[in-house]
Amino acid sequence: MRSRHYLMCRPDYFSIDYAINPWMDPAAGADRELAIRQWEALKSAYEELGHTVSLIDPVEGLPDMVFAANGALVIDGRVYGARFTHPERAAEAEAYLSWFAARGMPAKEAAFTNEGEGDFLVLDDMVLAGTGFRTEIGAHKEAQEYFGRPVVTLQLVDPRYYHLDTALFPLDGRNVAYFPGAFSPGSLEVLRRLFPDAVVASAADAAVLGLNAVSDGRTIVVNAEAADLQLDLKRRGYEVVPVDMSELRKAGGGPKCCTLEIRS
Ligand code: ARG
Repeated sequence: MRSRHYLMCRPDYFSIDYAINPWMDPAAGADRELAIRQWEALKSAYEELGHTVSLIDPVEGLPDMVFAANGALVIDGRVYGARFTHPERAAEAEAYLSWFAARGMPAKEAAFTNEGEGDFLVLDDMVLAGTGFRTEIGAHKEAQEYFGRPVVTLQLVDPRYYHLDTALFPLDGRNVAYFPGAFSPGSLEVLRRLFPDAVVASAADAAVLGLNAVSDGRTIVVNAEAADLQLDLKRRGYEVVPVDMSELRKAGGGPKCCTLEIRS
């Protein structure tokens, strides 16, 4: 297991002020204090696993900034900036770019709409990239050119699974777990060809955002409610660390959404 470096943003200003995905209901709201406690537990889980967590200051008025995965894509110490679909989140891109700039990490500003690791998931030999709701295919090409790694486009079709990381996660550098119902027929065929040995998750596990998980190749941090998925993962020999992210799920996020990996 390689020790990881994650960037997270404390949900000090978290709230459901607008609805930009089907999970969000501003009338129902969310409990910020509980969200903070759940987020602290996620951070501690990473630290107990031996990973390093860096923090970016939350910005008042950016209630979704806790979802650090959307802030950028970082591979080989190179940063590809985000460019958000919705004006409500647009200012987050600059906040994340500034964080990296302050640490001397070269960044590329994106010419195309993309929501960072929400739609880009990194494997050893390729990057899987979602499109359909947020990230544009132009960004897939831009990322391929910038990182010099093959980027495989996957078409998302279910608005509940609006980011690739709500429907698929890498188990390690070579294999993935995914929920088939989130993908177009052609993209599903691509996944079956690339990953014949994948963990295929149920609709029930997807519906609690069980696919929004974080693996270090040995241990997988996953939403506690995704019961069958946890059994499958254990059967494959993975350690599983269940976390309760009920409040952040009200904004459509889980453990992975709160986590941006900084790959040096
Ligand atoms: N409310 C946020 C949005 O809709 C949730 C983002 C979740 N992040 C993720 N990586 N899936 O943009």
